[in-house]
Amino acid sequence: MERTYVMVKPDGVQRGIIGEVISRIERRGLKVVAMRMNTMSLDSAKKHYAEHAQKPFFNSLISFITSGPSVSMVVEGKNAISVMRAVNGATNPVNAATGSIRGDLALDTGRNIVHASDSPESATREITIHFKESEITGYTRADEACIYEN
Ligand code: RTP
Ligand code: MG
Repeated sequence: MERTYVMVKPDGVQRGIIGEVISRIERRGLKVVAMRMNTMSLDSAKKHYAEHAQKPFFNSLISFITSGPSVSMVVEGKNAISVMRAVNGATNPVNAATGSIRGDLALDTGRNIVHASDSPESATREITIHFKESEITGYTRADEACIYEN
């Protein structure tokens, strides 16, 4: 089982689609094992998006991501990292597959609703930025026997 860090960004919260995003994650069979709503601190945002520090969109990205409440989650499941990237869709919603969150609900790269870690290394790094180990739960979902063959 893998864990990945997922965020409903401030645009998703303002649009009232937190439930829509979480519902898609849950229905896919992935399990939410930690969740919090808060306005991300400047320090956490800069750490989170450190790989983009030299990019021209960095300042506007940090400013937007810290502009209001977002919902942070740790999501667990078989191949959770790559599955969540597909659930979200391509970075630019214009290129995102229909059926993905961005492909169904977004139009602009800078307002693309969701984040998910892009590799095992990123997932570990991002989960550590946003959650203490004690905040991550461990439980068996009642439908796991139906979702997984073994
Ligand atoms: P995310 O990290 O938010 O899940 O998105 P991603 O992996 O699909 O895309 P990434 O390349 O990591 O970019 C992070 C976020 O920065 C904004 N962005 N703006 N104006 C631009 O060219 C541009 N490129 C990226 C997007 O909000 C993107 O999700
Ligand atoms: Mg990214």
